[in-house]
Amino acid sequence: MAKENKRDGFGSKLGIIAAAAGSAIGLGNIYRFPCELGENGGAAFLLMYLGIVLFLGIPVMLSELVIGRHTLSNAVGAFKKLAPKSFWPFVGYMGVLCGLLIFAFYSTVSGWTLEYIVKAVTNSFHGKDLAAIEQDFNTFHESGWRNVLWQAIFIFLTGFVVFRGVQNGIEKFSKILMPLLLVILVVLGIRSVTLPGAKEGLAFLFKPDFSKITGKEVISAMGQVFFSLSMGMGVLVTYGSYVKKSDNLTTTALSVTLSDTLVAVLAGIVIFPAAFSFGIKPTAGMGLVFNTIPMIFNQMTGGYVFCIIFFVLLAIAALTSTISLLEVVVAYITEELHINRKKATIIACAVTVLMGAFASLSLMKDTPLVIAGHTVFDGLDFISSNIMLPIGGLLIVVFVGWRFGKKRFFAEVSNEGMLKAPLKSLIYFIIKYLAPLAIVLVFVSGLINR
Ligand code: PHE
Repeated sequence: MAKENKRDGFGSKLGIIAAAAGSAIGLGNIYRFPCELGENGGAAFLLMYLGIVLFLGIPVMLSELVIGRHTLSNAVGAFKKLAPKSFWPFVGYMGVLCGLLIFAFYSTVSGWTLEYIVKAVTNSFHGKDLAAIEQDFNTFHESGWRNVLWQAIFIFLTGFVVFRGVQNGIEKFSKILMPLLLVILVVLGIRSVTLPGAKEGLAFLFKPDFSKITGKEVISAMGQVFFSLSMGMGVLVTYGSYVKKSDNLTTTALSVTLSDTLVAVLAGIVIFPAAFSFGIKPTAGMGLVFNTIPMIFNQMTGGYVFCIIFFVLLAIAALTSTISLLEVVVAYITEELHINRKKATIIACAVTVLMGAFASLSLMKDTPLVIAGHTVFDGLDFISSNIMLPIGGLLIVVFVGWRFGKKRFFAEVSNEGMLKAPLKSLIYFIIKYLAPLAIVLVFVSGLINR
């Protein structure tokens, strides 16, 4: 492929959409979204979530892509180029740190997907009732080191793909497998809503009750949006820097936002009707997804095969997300610290294995790994998703709206006037005024309304 610059790049138009969607779609949609929704008020959470996606999804995502493609740099380098000797590169540093923090706890759950592939292949769910399946899940993460081992294997896999480079690594994975995941979710959804007692779960998901919404729920909804769309920490700046000058950034942001949201809502439709039908509480947290899914497959013809396919796809969906987390860190280390890609990958993975082990072990029953009442796992998740990502997103839109400026933004989204980009004025207005205001308001309401 003819390269526009010396850096690695995505090969085709579908490349960037597939890679960005691969980053966005992952455990955040299928594991974290149902957990957050179950713990934060069901349908009311869903509505807030959709509102925030609609309002912030495209503007924030587009801001990141624009900065990346304009500077052809990693998250830190981009701000250094555009605003040298200022506070702004801090946004990039925070993103790199956030990438490591997320990778540390994300890889815990990613490791579970590998354990569950083995369980599925060995037919270990067969004929078991809910109590037995729950027991299996508890035994597994109480095992501690087994969890850490799977996690380390997953981190190693991620490192392997990232080391091979963008073009060969990321693109190939995302293109075929993500649509397949969508198909299997639809099949599962149909099975779930036709289970006895599914109605109650559908009501939980779609009939909002706003009386229970406080600041905590609103902040969680915003955190989930940023987490699910991979926004606020430079994934999209980094990926934007690999995009061709002829690609349409607005369409990219739109497709990624839409497909990610579709998968999240579908996951809700899969999990809640079934969970209610089996008597699993929506607030069950960690076990919600990992216990509900095998139970559904137990009630399905061909469940054995579907179950294997599902967990394999889930692992791959997680992998395309961890690849993006690691890519942010590795791009920074190679380009800013001038350490070669292989060494950079090894350093970042080693740090993650270490931090990740603390996250995994903190989930055991009598763990001492608790800080201020929260496990290391929850603490990492809360700080990175609910605080750092939205603050990163806030700074990015403020940067684009007030420092980068309209002229360069318009030039970038319209490919120097080659595209019409009819929404550019509206999106820019949101970026400059409304998005920053909205993010600040959510934080303030979260602090006041506790
Ligand atoms: N968006 C990914 C998911 O939903 C997680 C992620 C967050 C990836 C932030 C990169 C950056 O699974």
